[in-house]
Amino acid sequence: MGLYGRHIFPRLMDLVMSGAEFRQLRVALLHAAGGQVLEIGLGTGLNLPHYPNIVSRLCAVDPFPMLPDRLAARRETAPFPIEISRLSAETLPFDDQTFDCVVSTWTLCTIPDPVQALREVRRVLKPDGTFLFLEHGRSEEARIAAWQDRLNPLQRVIGCGCNLNRKIDQLIEQAGLTIRQLDRFQMRNVPRLGGAMYRGAAVPAASSSLRQRPLYEG
Ligand SMILES: C[S@@+](CC[C@H](N)C(=O)[O-])C[C@H]1O[C@@H](n2cnc3c(N)ncnc32)[C@H](O)[C@@H]1O
Repeated sequence: MGLYGRHIFPRLMDLVMSGAEFRQLRVALLHAAGGQVLEIGLGTGLNLPHYPNIVSRLCAVDPFPMLPDRLAARRETAPFPIEISRLSAETLPFDDQTFDCVVSTWTLCTIPDPVQALREVRRVLKPDGTFLFLEHGRSEEARIAAWQDRLNPLQRVIGCGCNLNRKIDQLIEQAGLTIRQLDRFQMRNVPRLGGAMYRGAAVPAASSSLRQRPLYEG
């Protein structure tokens, strides 16, 4: 990874993604996390201050070190132990059925093989565990989606591997998870190309816990 990927992109990402609208969305989603949690694509640790104190332990994976000083400062705010592995989500180093909850925010856009990563998420989730996701992806509007397709090659360069046009819900189902809750919306302060959101909760398909109540507050 060159100078841009190591120094400029992480700072830009951290600046943009620590904004108020991002923060509100993180808070609302993470309210539903608890127990033993795994976060894939930790980045600069922007979710860390927002986990509720019913989290007992957090494991996190990200293959790239992102602004270690800021990550360390955010890590200090957490009242639970945190273990960070510099690994890809496609090959998780955890036993089957380890976690009560797996979290992914703005990460499935970038993981090179998202379906393999999601298969791993399914494997490491306990049978009654929950996968919480908050991701941008392909727009429901044909005109916007066509522009996402056109501009995707450029985005992959300036966004260090980020794709604009992934159908996040399809990737999740393809990996054998069952979506229990899905909200599609447009972020107010993000250009339409990058602000088409998929927020939801999914469970391992074999799970018998047919939860009827919402898994998080939107
Ligand atoms: C746009 S950032 C989002 C960071 C963080 N999730 C957040 O919400 O602020 C995407 C993250 O995905 C990470 N990533 C890229 N490839 C990955 C992989 N194979 N497995 C796990 N994380 C990956 C990147 O290093 C980066 O930290």
